[in-house]
Amino acid sequence: MTSRRDFLRRAALASAASVALPSGAQGAPSPALALEPRHRELPPAPPGTPAQVAQDEAYWRSVAAQYAVTDRTTNMEAGFFGMMAAPVLEAYHRNVDQVNRESSYFARRSFPAITEDVRARVATALGVTAGEIAFARNATEALQTLIGQYNRVGAGDTVMYADLDYPAMQMAMNALAERRGATVATLDIPEPASHDAIMAAYTAALDAHPRTKLLLLTHANNKTGLLHPVRAIADLARARGVDTVVDAAHSFGQVPLALPDLGAPFIACNLHKWVGAPIGVAILHIRKDALARIDRAHGDDGSLERIDSRIHTGTTDFAAIMTVPNALEFQQRIGIPRKAARLRYLRDAWVAPARRIAGVDILTPDDPALVGAITSFRLHGNGDRARNAEISRTLQDEFGIFTVARSGLAKGDCVRVTPALYNSPADAAKLVSALRVMAARS
Ligand SMILES: Cc1ncc(COP(=O)(O)O)c(C=O)c1O
Repeated sequence: MTSRRDFLRRAALASAASVALPSGAQGAPSPALALEPRHRELPPAPPGTPAQVAQDEAYWRSVAAQYAVTDRTTNMEAGFFGMMAAPVLEAYHRNVDQVNRESSYFARRSFPAITEDVRARVATALGVTAGEIAFARNATEALQTLIGQYNRVGAGDTVMYADLDYPAMQMAMNALAERRGATVATLDIPEPASHDAIMAAYTAALDAHPRTKLLLLTHANNKTGLLHPVRAIADLARARGVDTVVDAAHSFGQVPLALPDLGAPFIACNLHKWVGAPIGVAILHIRKDALARIDRAHGDDGSLERIDSRIHTGTTDFAAIMTVPNALEFQQRIGIPRKAARLRYLRDAWVAPARRIAGVDILTPDDPALVGAITSFRLHGNGDRARNAEISRTLQDEFGIFTVARSGLAKGDCVRVTPALYNSPADAAKLVSALRVMAARS
């Protein structure tokens, strides 16, 4: 029989051994990357097409149960960052403990192998090679790197972006143009948007600015939720000798995504939005043949042949990167096509009835190719900034529904609604009831 003292001694030896032999450093799978028992609590997805599974409320209740959600609000503002599912959060907590306990011993001996393993997994999930991605702390850092270090813009050239692009990236494009003596051209995405209208707008803008060298494109838009036809626009640009940098901050995990399908040499993706990894993880992608077009990072003397010399972050949140495989695994159990279909189902659950309310203008098209989870609206065509902020505030204060107002659209501000997997059709119905009351009032 094992005595308590034996047990304690063996436990102490086991724990000492795990410190002495950090498995990530020895090439064996790291304990940090092991699956959580709670992953197994999530039942397998039921049979059927993604669109059929999207309506299986019993299944989605079991998915929603994996998220510890506050009861302070009905949160329909999942666009900021994604909540970690409970098994992912547990892994993150454990990883924080390990990093803190093992400190520099961990960071110097175990983390290099772990980060390479995670990089390979993320690259595979995105359909590229590990040598074509590097970690950043967020999409802003990744895109500032790609835009700021792009070296094919010269004096008299043009850089281009649209009204719907993310403000920080618009500013990065402005700064690039200023440093290089280039000019900035902008275009407005048509409202209402359609594939043909978007293509016509980019065609006209590129025709009007034949010296354009770099075009910023947002894939899944943060203001209206519009999924831009990035591939078609990038092809149009390439035919004119224009490079595209794609802001796919919202794409990975919201919609099925393989980076080569976007047809762009430079792309940034967040993992802390729709993949549900801890805050502080994103990637930048530079296609192998385009590496020379991005300068080495300021303060880096790494190999010109390696993407790692293009971003120099310094000390980072080790535990966040360690936890990425747990987030990918959780997502994989559901399956991105099923997840995307469910998000779209929750979006349609409020948009379809809201379209029938007089005074509610839905800004995002229903074309399945042009929308995912996110959709925005205005009341009575009013794009006033203060008014939209007030609408969002009223939705929270009076109806208990959390949304956010968005600015920067050519036609004025709007309110953005972003459901997540922990939302339900009942949340959508609650929003529709609130919109009925508010539209009738104004
Ligand atoms: C379209 C888009 N691009 C870039 C970003 C910046 O992402 P991060 O805050 O993670 O840097 C966001 C953030 O919401 C976004 O919506």
